[in-house]
Amino acid sequence: MSALVTATQLSLRYATTADPIVAATDFTIEQQEILALVGPSGCGKSTILKAIAGFIPHTGELQMATREITAPGSDRGVVFQNASLYPWLNVAQNVAFGLRAASQPVAKIDQRVQQLLQLIDLQAQAQRPIFALSGGMRQRVAIARALAPQPPLLLLDEPFGALDAFTRQKMQQLILDIWRREQVSMLLITHDLTEALRCGSRIAVMSKQAHKIVKIYDNPCQGMTADELASPLIEPAAMQLRHEILQVINETAAE
Ligand SMILES: Nc1ncnc2c1ncn2[C@@H]1O[C@H](COP(=O)(O)OP(=O)(O)O)[C@@H](O)[C@H]1O
Ligand SMILES: [Mg+2]
Repeated sequence: MSALVTATQLSLRYATTADPIVAATDFTIEQQEILALVGPSGCGKSTILKAIAGFIPHTGELQMATREITAPGSDRGVVFQNASLYPWLNVAQNVAFGLRAASQPVAKIDQRVQQLLQLIDLQAQAQRPIFALSGGMRQRVAIARALAPQPPLLLLDEPFGALDAFTRQKMQQLILDIWRREQVSMLLITHDLTEALRCGSRIAVMSKQAHKIVKIYDNPCQGMTADELASPLIEPAAMQLRHEILQVINETAAE
């Protein structure tokens, strides 16, 4: 494994804030991994994601494939909690959007769109307008749209936070399926520890008081079902890791 993204003493602030939101943090996103990022609300998770996306400036080093990140680029796909799809385009057109913008040949675009619609199981909805879709379907379209140009990195900011528990579980499985098939690394921000345990190759824990990522765990539970994760008999490692992560979050919250 070698790092796709490397942050070294990364600090982030907004023009309107005097103090840094993120202060001198170090982390990597490895090739072919899902890095799950957890931490209390307001600790700066989205701020880190926005910096990697190139939406906000940084100090310190933030490199993607050894080049400093200075702006958004087609090598990074982004999905937020509320899918900002184009309402005037149908499902297939939304998925094709980035490919059309890059002026790819029509036959190639069609082939890629079909492949993605199959991956997200929305082939039958290809011609439907966005308003006719459920929240879960919209997030699937947003993920397919972000994946279409085959970026090496997908940035997911609480992508399932607004979905019901059942739909969320299906989406977690979808993320794992996509990850196995698409040769893509992911940063997955979530406030759901079970989601981090299911999906993360590693789990990074961010502290609000320290303004940084304080610990990154290897995750032996990646790919397990929610039921497996909930059963202490089947998986003591999951219980142990959950306990440790909560302890780190609570410790740093009490500082
Ligand atoms: N555009 C902005 N301008 C100023 N402050 C912001 C902006 N966006 C977020 N913040 C502040 O930065 C801190 C971290 O926010 P955020 O990264 O969204 O946290 P998280 O995603 O972990 O909940 C919060 O205190 C928030 O109020
Ligand atoms: Mg956030």
